[in-house]
Amino acid sequence: MSKILLLPGDGIGPEVAVEIERVIAVLNRDFGLGAEIEHDLLGGVSIDAHGVPLTDAALAKARASDAVIMGAVGGPKWAKVDYAIRPEQGLLNLRSGLGLYANLRPALCYAALADASTLKREVIEGLDIVIVRELIGGVYFGHPRGIETLPDGQRRGVNTQVYTTSEIVRIARSAFELARQRSGKVCSAEKANVMESGLLWREEVTRLHDAEYPDIALTHMYADNCAMQLVRAPKQFDVIVTDNLFGDILSDAAAMLTGSLGMLPSAALGEPGKPGLYEPIHGSAPDIAGKGVANPCAAILSLAMALRLQLGRADLADKVEAAVGKALDDGYRTADLIGEGEVKRVGTTGMGEAIAERLA
Ligand code: IPM
Ligand code: MG
Repeated sequence: MSKILLLPGDGIGPEVAVEIERVIAVLNRDFGLGAEIEHDLLGGVSIDAHGVPLTDAALAKARASDAVIMGAVGGPKWAKVDYAIRPEQGLLNLRSGLGLYANLRPALCYAALADASTLKREVIEGLDIVIVRELIGGVYFGHPRGIETLPDGQRRGVNTQVYTTSEIVRIARSAFELARQRSGKVCSAEKANVMESGLLWREEVTRLHDAEYPDIALTHMYADNCAMQLVRAPKQFDVIVTDNLFGDILSDAAAMLTGSLGMLPSAALGEPGKPGLYEPIHGSAPDIAGKGVANPCAAILSLAMALRLQLGRADLADKVEAAVGKALDDGYRTADLIGEGEVKRVGTTGMGEAIAERLA
């Protein structure tokens, strides 16, 4: 019996979380998954209920579960609250509280969706890359940070980009290990041309490579060039390893190559045996929240990643991924997915049901 903690969160989060539950129900019923679902609050809904975006109790529940799956956090309602208790801070506290330093963000182009990308079909068809983003260090967590008022009345905002050897080495190791299961290629992205932390990053990645992963083809790229190369010729990449902030930006760009943010899952992992956090890459999408039109695929594929990477059920992950692919092949499209010819326009529930039927 595995315990899954579901944190639906804000905006479209609760809507897509319902579809995760629908799929888990099928896996329990037809495939003996034996997963028990618990719920808790994260983000704005937690602020409304408890005054903080993640309670100690919710974090404790996360630690005691086998895997945590979330929907999304944030929204205009909480845009003015203090940084320390913003919805997003709940997610950052969850990531750091669980020690989730390695964020795997695949960008995979489904054949049925190659025309949904703003890029030409030949540029993205068959794309299959993974961004390995460092998740609990860098400028997101560095000190000093804050906004202060100077003696002359101006205000000054400060954040600090900081990385240590061990933080760089452990994320580089995750990338090299992943590359060994794939095509054996890693591109490391930083700004060693202007940042000391980037230079250290490059040196430590190179050192680990030379010492332990000489079989991997390692290249280095400045992060701005990497952004450009991602839209110019994304298929040159396999695994990209990068820091927290660059990873945030590059993974949005990579995701959109595939046609829609609504398709892509992610996994945040810490030490082996500890619960990971699985989440769709998309945000809370306040503009469409509550309308029943959000694409649940990224959320359902996040469940698949949890099955594969955490719950020891790669067989069921394959089945869930195949069911999503089949629903797309059969023409089911949520509003974010452009379709040619005869497509079946569906909302969140319709897509979830189409996937669940194909899985059953
Ligand atoms: C992401 C999001 C988060 C981040 C926000 C919601 C804190 O953009 O997961 O990419 O910046 O890490
Ligand atoms: Mg982001």
